[in-house]
Amino acid sequence: MLEDSAPKKSVYREHTRVKHVLLEKYLKAWIPVLGKYHSRICYFDGFAGRGEYESGDPGSPVIAIQVAHGFEKHFGEFVCTNIEHDPDAFKNLESTLSSYQYPKIKVVNVQGAFADVIEQIIVKVGGELAPSFFFIDPFGFSGVPFGIIKDILSIQRTEVFITFMYHDINRFLRTPQTQTALNALFGTTISGQLSSLLTSREKENAIRDLYVKQLREAAGARFVLTFRVSMQNRRRTRYYLIYATNHFKGLMLMKTIMYNQGVGGDFSYLGPEDGARRIQPSFFDDDVQPLKDLLLARFKGRTLTYNQIEEETWEEHFVDKHYRAVLKELENDEKVCIKHVSSKTTRGLSGKDQISFL
Ligand SMILES: C[S@@+](CC[C@H](N)C(=O)[O-])C[C@H]1O[C@@H](n2cnc3c(N)ncnc32)[C@H](O)[C@@H]1O
Repeated sequence: MLEDSAPKKSVYREHTRVKHVLLEKYLKAWIPVLGKYHSRICYFDGFAGRGEYESGDPGSPVIAIQVAHGFEKHFGEFVCTNIEHDPDAFKNLESTLSSYQYPKIKVVNVQGAFADVIEQIIVKVGGELAPSFFFIDPFGFSGVPFGIIKDILSIQRTEVFITFMYHDINRFLRTPQTQTALNALFGTTISGQLSSLLTSREKENAIRDLYVKQLREAAGARFVLTFRVSMQNRRRTRYYLIYATNHFKGLMLMKTIMYNQGVGGDFSYLGPEDGARRIQPSFFDDDVQPLKDLLLARFKGRTLTYNQIEEETWEEHFVDKHYRAVLKELENDEKVCIKHVSSKTTRGLSGKDQISFL
């Protein structure tokens, strides 16, 4: 096993870039939205790293601080708490972040283990936190006990974005020495829940879905999205980025970002050749017929707001542009009536507009 501070672990790879793109794009959307209602916003980086990669690319805390700096007029205070347990990485983190000082951004670096530090913070704040985004980005699967994720999500206005290390989990799935760490990660005993007869794809889906189920049922997250990131130049999965929230607006922001970063409605990144596919989007990328069929079947005879339609069908891989296109088509076909309440023009469609399915 390599030490966490080993240089090989601080190389900036393609899959890291993908993770950072999602993080950065989400923070750019999330900070101004929250800033409208809350003066104070918190970002927690549970596995902060060195602050900067060997290549000079910024680490996640730097990305968060720089995004926040760009939106300073939208909030009163942005608190960025960075947790890192490795002494060498921590020293580097502190030195890197000392160059990023801005009046409205408070940086708190804590040397320690994610679960211990978060537990102490939760006790200290007594379950009251400003709206908070937790980025939880371990190397493997230990150090992320499910109980802590559950505690975080039990606090109002918190969301988590987790690197779920599928490749490592699968590799050590049957190793007796890792069962305790795996059970802690999932918050349940996993051995009996994953049949040995599954194909590798079925097993992968079952492992991911078990974690999603735990987030929804045991930790009470209303919405969970997953984004698959494959190995460099290979189709095999390296990890899933898993986002859990109770907030519809956050869900729709992240869903759009994941949709735009994936290809063909698939929330996944399939390695460098994926970029070429993205430049030439497939004709089928925007096939909205399944959404049309779904809405007609599900909502016949009902009147709902635009937001309610999106919320009741949130698990489908469709985003705003699809809903708008489909509802406009249905209006032209006289299958729905639209009463514009919040949209500014009759061409637009937004949250409180009422749609009656005939
Ligand atoms: C994948 S790296 C983080 C990369 C960083 N989030 C980024 O995107 O730039 C994981 C980091 O977590 C640290 N780490 C490992 N176990 C930890 C724990 N239990 N608590 C806090 N940090 C830990 C490692 O030393 C390493 O620096």
